[in-house]
Amino acid sequence: PADLFAPERINSAGVEFGDRAALERLTEAVAAARGPADAAAVIDGVAKGGARRDVVSPSDARTVVGTVAEASPEIAAAAMVAARKGAVAWGLLPAAQRAAALERAADAMEASRGRLIHLLQAEAGKTLDDAVAELREAVDFCRYYAAQGRKLFGAPEALPGPTGESNRLSLRSRGVFVAISPWNFPLAIFVGQVAAALMAGNAVVAKPAEQTPLIAAEAVRLMHRAGVAPSALQLVPGDGAVGAALVAHPHVAGVVFTGSTEVARHINRALAAKDGPIVPLIAETGGINAMLVDATALPEQVADDVVTSAFRSAGQRCSALRLLLVQEDVADRVIAMVAGAARELRLGDPADPATHVGPVIDAEARARLDQHGAAMRRAATAHYVGEVPGKGHFVAPQIYEIPGPGALTEEVFGPILHVARYRASDLDRVLDQIEATGYGLTLGVHSRIDATVERVVSRLSTGNIYVNRNMIGAVVGVQPFGGHGLSGTGPKAGGPHYLTRFATEQTVTINT
Ligand code: SER
Repeated sequence: PADLFAPERINSAGVEFGDRAALERLTEAVAAARGPADAAAVIDGVAKGGARRDVVSPSDARTVVGTVAEASPEIAAAAMVAARKGAVAWGLLPAAQRAAALERAADAMEASRGRLIHLLQAEAGKTLDDAVAELREAVDFCRYYAAQGRKLFGAPEALPGPTGESNRLSLRSRGVFVAISPWNFPLAIFVGQVAAALMAGNAVVAKPAEQTPLIAAEAVRLMHRAGVAPSALQLVPGDGAVGAALVAHPHVAGVVFTGSTEVARHINRALAAKDGPIVPLIAETGGINAMLVDATALPEQVADDVVTSAFRSAGQRCSALRLLLVQEDVADRVIAMVAGAARELRLGDPADPATHVGPVIDAEARARLDQHGAAMRRAATAHYVGEVPGKGHFVAPQIYEIPGPGALTEEVFGPILHVARYRASDLDRVLDQIEATGYGLTLGVHSRIDATVERVVSRLSTGNIYVNRNMIGAVVGVQPFGGHGLSGTGPKAGGPHYLTRFATEQTVTINT
């Protein structure tokens, strides 16, 4: 129903890149905000010591972006204890006060755009347009969940019942939520998880990805200053052992995780093995995301949308296109046009506004992708392999032709696109093969035939389907985002059903 959605569009304004003055103001704000950053565990608002490590730029390992003092499992446990105390007062605050704190945090993030964009570029290798979009998404999550939360948590809902009885249903916080976020959206997903859990009245212990603690620390500073109680938001930067300690802790009342399917399974098992309450997991993982292109599609638009979907953000989005399926009648032309468009992409320093594709996150990611590329060159037809700039963890956009959807069995998290041809008469079989991957995150369709589009949509259960456009960059409140099966548990982030999963429900019946 419509009233589940936020009352109005809350989306923040972007930057018009064609407006030179606006672009200059932005790049100047980013340049002025450079300078070393630091991160540490923050418990009840106090920074803790820990093993110090330099955080280096993915574009150039000689550039130190800042330092992190990593939390030990003991500090993680202390954060859980502090959060359990903090959850009580935070959960009792009127929803409107929690919402107002999130809205002030959104304003503060917009006011700090130079610093946040600098960190997104320096720590995570984001291009300028990706960094701007990510900041907007973080801001939008705060405002959207605040608007939703005012309605959902504001007052109990009166329910109909027999005369002489009153019934009401209310949402209540769960307690302490552990939020484990990924490096590919180190601001937006970090803030989105935290904002949702806080809006529902929970205290949060947030563990950012090992690769991106600095931006998370900056976001936490802004949220605390905006009025999120320090006891309600604890930060513990660290590695997988810290995450495991949080998940295993007896105080955990819920876990929200975005990352790999493998780690989601691991968390699920760890939660299931615990004694005590049954703890819910909200997981958003990956996908082997496909795009179908039939003979009625417009090749120029397809080329543009494929390149955006597969190669922007260096393919490091869970929504990114991995498998392009082209009807054989038009395949040669479409593949040639996609390769031509890929050739136009400029790889390089994300701080340069002209860069289209930045680095991948670290040496490990690069090695894994290089290995996959080499295996593909041995086994498949290479339609395009780009060149990489000299230093930094760059992986060139690559396009390989494989025999069919079944030949791609794992998510390849980078700028490597796989292409396969299909016969029009085989469409149903191809759709079955997509469904058989077990993933269900995003899907693209390029077709001018409505009946084909409807056939695809009704046959596949994919979470986000994009028709005749690119398939990345879901907008909060506009394209609620998330999948199911191997792609996660739902609910959709930035959608009307998200917040309720962070809460419990209580029905009160009074005999009057
Ligand atoms: N929400 C992001 C997108 O839609 C996630 O990868 O691209």
